[in-house]
Amino acid sequence: MAPKSFLLTDAVSDYLLAHQDPLDEIEQSLIETTKALGGVSGMQIAPEQGRFMQLFASLLGAKRAVEVGTFTGYSALQLVRGMGEGSHLLCCDVSEEWTAIGRTHWERAGIADQITLVIAPATETLAALPLEPTFDLAFIDADKPGYHDYYEAIVPRLAPNGVLLIDNVLWHGAVTDPADTNESTEIIRRFNDHVAADPRTESTILPIGDGLTMVRRTR
Ligand SMILES: C[S@@+](CC[C@H](N)C(=O)[O-])C[C@H]1O[C@@H](n2cnc3c(N)ncnc32)[C@H](O)[C@@H]1O
Repeated sequence: MAPKSFLLTDAVSDYLLAHQDPLDEIEQSLIETTKALGGVSGMQIAPEQGRFMQLFASLLGAKRAVEVGTFTGYSALQLVRGMGEGSHLLCCDVSEEWTAIGRTHWERAGIADQITLVIAPATETLAALPLEPTFDLAFIDADKPGYHDYYEAIVPRLAPNGVLLIDNVLWHGAVTDPADTNESTEIIRRFNDHVAADPRTESTILPIGDGLTMVRRTR
């Protein structure tokens, strides 16, 4: 499999995939079904990021999570598998078509009843949530112009020590290229600056996938 991360060579990608738990039949089907959609399949998180998120959700002992940007359901599958029995994930997306692929695979994985999928702009879904009960874990992986609003909606709803993961924050490395003044790149740069300066949280950017920010609410 070609690496999804710009940070990995083919050889290093193959090596790390060969040294983590192999993909099961449901994960393989989800990857293949998504690949058949064409270029949009690039939106799916990388398998090593999926394994990391599953392990991380498990280590955190998370039981309540929210995801902004579900697509064909791969990251949701990883999060719910990591959180285990009795956990719940709220999924926000605008696409019936893409998330239908996710629903089929969640059913096959026996986790469909742990997921509530809301098809609506995520700003609306998040704004309608009460401040409590809080979330142990959150994942943002949707339209980049929405990142700032999703972040501001989720941080107050994080449990003490709750963690927010945010995808694509290195934007294929473009954030470091001063010649790149593309609107999406500028949006991600401004967002990263905002997160780094937030006095309510501590955060770090992990060089995994396309760059994954990990944010912990500290107050
Ligand atoms: C990068 S993909 C998510 C990939 C997914 N996390 C995975 O691992 O397969 C981004 C998703 O955000 C969704 N999206 C775009 N704009 C949105 C919005 N305003 N509200 C909610 N979801 C949105 C798209 O429909 C798409 O499915």
